[in-house]
Amino acid sequence: MRSLKNILVTGGAGFIGVNFIRFLFGEAEEKPDFKGRIINLDNLTYAGNAGSLKEIKEKFGGSRYFFERGDICDYSLVENIFQEYKIDTVVHFAAESHVDRSILYPEAFIKTNVLGTFTLLECARRTWKDANDVLFHHIGTDEVYGSLGEEIRFSETAMYNPRSPYSASKASSDHLVMAYYYTYGLPVTVSNCSNNYGPYQFPEKFIPLMIINMLEGKPLPVYGDGKNIRDWLYVDDHNNAIWNILKKGSKGEKYNIGGENEMENIKLLHELIDIVAVKINSNVEAIRSTITYVKDRPGHDKRYAIDCSKIKRELDWKQNVDFRQGIERTVDWYLANREWMDSIRNGHYRRWIEKNYEKR
Ligand code: NAD
Ligand code: TYD
Repeated sequence: MRSLKNILVTGGAGFIGVNFIRFLFGEAEEKPDFKGRIINLDNLTYAGNAGSLKEIKEKFGGSRYFFERGDICDYSLVENIFQEYKIDTVVHFAAESHVDRSILYPEAFIKTNVLGTFTLLECARRTWKDANDVLFHHIGTDEVYGSLGEEIRFSETAMYNPRSPYSASKASSDHLVMAYYYTYGLPVTVSNCSNNYGPYQFPEKFIPLMIINMLEGKPLPVYGDGKNIRDWLYVDDHNNAIWNILKKGSKGEKYNIGGENEMENIKLLHELIDIVAVKINSNVEAIRSTITYVKDRPGHDKRYAIDCSKIKRELDWKQNVDFRQGIERTVDWYLANREWMDSIRNGHYRRWIEKNYEKR
C-alpha cells in the first residue's frame, strides 16, 4: 500500500476536485484513511471556486491543506511546488472541461489539457527521477472513445476515437501520460470516467443547468431529439475509485470508472423535473412545458457507456450511491446553496468570461 504523504491535486477548485478534497478530508460518506497533506494548484478559471473549500481551509489550512493559485503550464511554479512540498503523488484534474466551450474556443483546451499535462509530466519526471513510492494519476474521460452504437460498452482496450476538441485534447493528454510510462518509466495510472454529477458542479453542465433553470422558470434546452445517452456516476463514487487506484492501482494501468447507469437525456430530465417539482412544491406539467428542443451540438456523441469490470475485479471498488439517491442529494444541495450559484454566476465567473472570451 502506498504512503501518500503529499498529494498535489491540480484543478482542486473545480467540480470533481473540490469533491475529491472534501472526500479525502472525511466529508463524504465513505471515509478514506488519509493522513497526509493536500496541495491544491488551480488558476481559478471561470470554473474554479476556491470558496467551495472554505471549511476545509478553516480546519486544515496551513497544516494539511494548502492552496496555490497558478497555471499548470507554468513549469517553474510547478517545480517549486514539487520541491517545497515534497510532492509524492499527483492527482491531475485540471482541465478545460466543457464540450460546448471547446467547440467555440478550442485554443484554451489545447493549452491546458495538452501543454499543461505535458508540463506536469515533465516536472514529475525531472524531480522524481528514480524515486519509489511516487505516482502520477491522470483523470481522463470516456469521451476519448467516441460515440457508441447500441450494443457494446467501452473497456480499457477500446480504440480512441475522439470527436470534439475537448475529447481530442483529453485523448492527447492520456497518450502523453502513457508515453511517459513506456518511455521514461514514470509511475503513472490513468482513469477514464463517465459523466459525473453531484454538488459543486458548474451550472453549464446538463444536470445543474437544468436544476437552476427550473428554479428560475427559464426554458430547459434539450439538444437534438434528447435521445443521446450518457452514463451517470455520482461524484463521491468516482472519488472513491480514484482513492482505490492511488492506494492499490498497478503502475502503467488504465481503469475505467462508470456508474452503470445509462440514460437518455430526456428521460433523465423528466426524472429531474419530478424530483424538483415535489421539493419546490411546483406543478410538474408547468415545468415540463418549459422543455425546449434546440439545435443539436455539432458532432454530438450518441452514446457513452463504460465497462468498469476491471476496477471492480482488481481493486474491489463498486458504486455505493444509486441514481435516485444521488440525484436527490444533488437537488437538495443546489436548493440549499443558492448563494453559491449566484456568487459564481455573477462575480468571478462573469469577469473571467468577459476578459477571456467576450473581448476576443
Ligand atoms: P471543472 O471544469 O469543474 O474544473 C476544472 C478546474 O481546473 C477548475 O477549478 C479550473 O480553475 C482548473 N483549471 C483549468 N485550467 C487550469 C490551468 N491551466 N491551471 C490550473 N488550473 C486550471 O472540471 P471537472 O468537471 O471538475 O473535471 C475535472 C477533470 O475530470 C477534468 O480533467 C475532466 O476532463 C475530467 N472529467 C470530468 C467529467 C465530468 O463529468 N465532469 C467526466 C469525465 C472526466
Ligand atoms: P454535458 O453535461 O455538457 O456533458 P457531456 O457533453 O460531456 O456529456 O451534457 C450531457 C448531455 O446533455 C449531452 O448529451 C449534451 C446534453 N445537453 C443538452 O441537451 N442541453 C444542454 O443545455 C447541455 C449543457 C447538454
